[in-house]
Amino acid sequence: MRTVEEIKNEIEQNWVFQHFSLKQRDFFIDLLSKLKPSYCLETGFCTGSSSATILSTCHPTKLISVGLAYNNLEIAKNLEEQYSFKFIQGDSTQVLSPAFFESEYLQGIDFYYVDGGHEYAVALADLDNALPSMNEGSVIIVDDYHSQACPLPTVEQAVDEFVKSHNLNMEKIIIEDGKGMALIQL
Ligand SMILES: C[S@@+](CC[C@H](N)C(=O)[O-])C[C@H]1O[C@@H](n2cnc3c(N)ncnc32)[C@H](O)[C@@H]1O
Repeated sequence: MRTVEEIKNEIEQNWVFQHFSLKQRDFFIDLLSKLKPSYCLETGFCTGSSSATILSTCHPTKLISVGLAYNNLEIAKNLEEQYSFKFIQGDSTQVLSPAFFESEYLQGIDFYYVDGGHEYAVALADLDNALPSMNEGSVIIVDDYHSQACPLPTVEQAVDEFVKSHNLNMEKIIIEDGKGMALIQL
């Protein structure tokens, strides 16, 4: 079994510090080392640091990340060469269609990180569209939920409505640097 230091060194090869904090990286390493998800999905690629963290920590069978703009294409290429990873440039509300899930996630999804568009409608669509493909026991993490560092009421409203309308369990995570996330366990 690899040590946390070895995992951090692997992430470091594709790490660009901007949105995803070091404390979030550590939270993800801890969570994903326990969950060991095989099929993963992400919205919001950008620097690729959250993708690199997921890939380096659990070497999933598949990770697809969908990103609209400001994407570091060099990191995306490195990750596609190193891991079972695919970057899709586009709007998640269009990309995450029933046909997408049917062709890419026949085995369902074990871990989903939602960090794309922060508008209410986009955050809600990202959650609603993936829900039918989430496996039993799988985990969704939504970034910027009650974040002290970056409050986003639109994301909070989308998460609250999603959790309430589907009667789901949600835990509010606040990490040391003030970043907040919602953890939804299916
Ligand atoms: C906070 S950043 C993501 C940070 C990223 N997880 C990282 O580690 O660097 C949000 C990203 O979501 C993208 N985005 C915004 N609206 C989107 C949409 N509708 N579909 C996909 N990506 C979107 C933005 O272009 C931006 O790159």
